[in-house]
Amino acid sequence: MRLLEVDNLRVAFRTGDGDVNAVNGVRFGIDKGETLAIVGESGSGKSQTAFAAMGLLAKNGSATGSVTFDGQDLLHLPQKELNRIRSQEIAMIFQDPMTSLNPYMKISEQMIEVLMLHKGMTRHEALDESVKMLDAVRIPDARARITMYPHEFSGGMRQRIMIAMALLCRPRLLIADEPTTALDVTVQAQIMDLLGDIRRDFGTAVILITHDLGVVAGFCDRTLVMYGGQVMEEGPTIDVFEHPSHPYTLGLLKAVPRLDRDDATLATIAGEPPDMSRLPAGCPFSPRCAMVLPQCPTTKAPLEPLGGERRRACHRPVAEVV
Ligand SMILES: Nc1ncnc2c1ncn2[C@@H]1O[C@H](COP(=O)(O)OP(=O)(O)O)[C@@H](O)[C@H]1O
Ligand SMILES: [Mg+2]
Repeated sequence: MRLLEVDNLRVAFRTGDGDVNAVNGVRFGIDKGETLAIVGESGSGKSQTAFAAMGLLAKNGSATGSVTFDGQDLLHLPQKELNRIRSQEIAMIFQDPMTSLNPYMKISEQMIEVLMLHKGMTRHEALDESVKMLDAVRIPDARARITMYPHEFSGGMRQRIMIAMALLCRPRLLIADEPTTALDVTVQAQIMDLLGDIRRDFGTAVILITHDLGVVAGFCDRTLVMYGGQVMEEGPTIDVFEHPSHPYTLGLLKAVPRLDRDDATLATIAGEPPDMSRLPAGCPFSPRCAMVLPQCPTTKAPLEPLGGERRRACHRPVAEVV
């Protein structure tokens, strides 16, 4: 059994302008200890996929389909059990650490509270465990600095503290939503290193959500490419990067700056991201696709196996996508 299985997940938001179809039949899974990247331009439905799975959609949103974690259907779980899973088995971190940290509380208080509440530790045990976790995310001099407030740390250090907080209960799955997007490149690399160590040391499965393909390559076992709330392709990261099978992936990869290539060749994908309240009946990428076929705007290409644990949704024969 996979750790997490998402099947035919759909998310719609009610708005004054009609329904926004943010996620449209997404299917994927992740195994214990595995790392999966979910990539795509901003607005492609990555975050809402994660929020729906966690039961954290905005009030005007609703989800259908199934999200199974360790055999339990998260979309239909009693609130109490869902809360337990969310606080102890699945953790989420975000671009802005201040969404998870309380600015008015010392780091020590915030961490100790979590462990006393969820793990039944004494104050003393909880403090020791918290210091250990700050050491694990390489906060220098953790025992002294744990009594500081969030604003006394740099952005990169705050991100480490948020990761430490997320790991306190030793979750089996960590969902990191654009965790390095607000950081400069050097700190970004350090945080990605750290996430790699955590996965190794704690055996935590990680879903990394990012619009930045640059951070995915060295980190994730598998990559899932999303557009218009749908999976465009999925496969082992190396294969997806070296032999993309979908025109959208090809476009994304051309837009990644690379050291071994003159940046003058950096391309962006022409056209606008889709309006999620007016998606075409067929492939959402068809209006921007350089390889569009006559049937693409009207007929969806099913997500089909391609061999080598790969899947793609595209009418264009794979040999022509280069
Ligand atoms: N509360 C909401 N009401 C209406 N539309 C929403 C709401 N939250 C998100 N959306 C829309 O859902 C779509 C997908 O968003 P999201 O999953 O956040 O994209 P991303 O891939 O950048 O993470 C976007 O078009 C966004 O505007
Ligand atoms: Mg997002």
